[in-house]
Amino acid sequence: MIKVLDEHLGRKIDYASYKKQVEEINKMIDDKSGPGNDYLGWLNYPSSIKESELDEIQKYAEIVRKNCDILLVCGIGGSYLGARAAIEAINGLHSDKKPEIIFVGQSFSSDYLYEVIEHLKGKKFAINVISKSGTTTETSIAFRILKNLLEEKVGKKEASKAIFATTDKEKGALLKLSKQEGYVRFVLPSDIGGRYSVFSAVGLFPIACAGINIKELIAGAKEAEKSLKSPEISANSAYKYAVIRDALYREKYADELFVTYEPRLVSIGEWFKQLFGESEGKEHKGLFPCSATFSTDLHSLGQFIQDGSRVLFETVLNIKHPNHEISIPKADEDLDELNYLAGKNMSFVSEQAFKGTLEAHAETAKVPNVILEIDKLDEKGLGYLFYFFMKTCAMSAYLLKVNPFNQPGVEIYKKNMFHLLGKKGY
Ligand code: PA5
Repeated sequence: MIKVLDEHLGRKIDYASYKKQVEEINKMIDDKSGPGNDYLGWLNYPSSIKESELDEIQKYAEIVRKNCDILLVCGIGGSYLGARAAIEAINGLHSDKKPEIIFVGQSFSSDYLYEVIEHLKGKKFAINVISKSGTTTETSIAFRILKNLLEEKVGKKEASKAIFATTDKEKGALLKLSKQEGYVRFVLPSDIGGRYSVFSAVGLFPIACAGINIKELIAGAKEAEKSLKSPEISANSAYKYAVIRDALYREKYADELFVTYEPRLVSIGEWFKQLFGESEGKEHKGLFPCSATFSTDLHSLGQFIQDGSRVLFETVLNIKHPNHEISIPKADEDLDELNYLAGKNMSFVSEQAFKGTLEAHAETAKVPNVILEIDKLDEKGLGYLFYFFMKTCAMSAYLLKVNPFNQPGVEIYKKNMFHLLGKKGY
């Protein structure tokens, strides 16, 4: 379902030299014997999630869809980005579907939260608070404020029916609070880390509330799970992509620029950056993941890519067919000089932009380009894509000899902040 094209890299990748290592790592992933192996629950999750679990999620999503104008999704990092990426990718950026989905708890900005609170006036809203640890400060502060607001508005009893908590099954402050308040609870399995959790209730509940077909999303993930099992690089597109990334990294490329031609995929770029950045950036190793939307960013970053420091390679997601076509009309007077495109679809123009940019960057500027080709990005295609990146990331991080599933570095800012805030024990 995803083709990884390597003919625009400007070099031949020596796949044979990776054969043994990839086979060993594949075995290590399957056997769950590598570092961080207790966080490999995502690997077989699409094929093991029960129909009844999906129905349960769907049942509560229907209640929210029927009764609410707005769903507030309160979470950060892996407890936020997958849902946002999926909802925007499928529903677009200006969806008028009900309920409106608003993300909160992903910053300390009072201006942002104020704006959301103003927007809630006169509207019926529910909250999905998502936190595996149950103690993430950004999420907890926003939730405390919004929970109070909801309770003031509809009373404690009704509020407790409109709050849905997604957290660990056995531990954490959010679990304790949810039990006490009687919220509907969804579980994030303990062997799945935040950035690998989009196929659990962390992603699925908000995605279902947005009216997206979660069974199709899981069907796509299941297909990826099945087709990306092979230890053979030539038969496993995720491993082929992981090897290309590793080979370029070892040639001293420092940055991977993830590119799409779709504004609705900006948050897929954010999800991608978290997945790879948090999984690989350890022990002073790893590619720095960044993202861009073309052709928008060809008018900003394009100059740097063409002529700037030779530090990056591009990974371009090329979607062959858009979900909707728009054709360019003919004008009686050709004042804007566009009649040479009259009758052509915008997707045709976009395709030529892609080809022209590829030639400019890969051939003229010698910036290696990996092309990830996908036919169409609907629910199924998206499920496949998420899983593809997760499998790539596990292989790629193990090729770097780092644990793909921890994130020790993010604790340092928290410790400093807690000390400054006067939290007990810091
Ligand atoms: O990928 C991760 O593990 C992190 O990004 C977490 O998802 C993020 O820090 C939020 O953590 P929690 O779900 O515990 O609130």
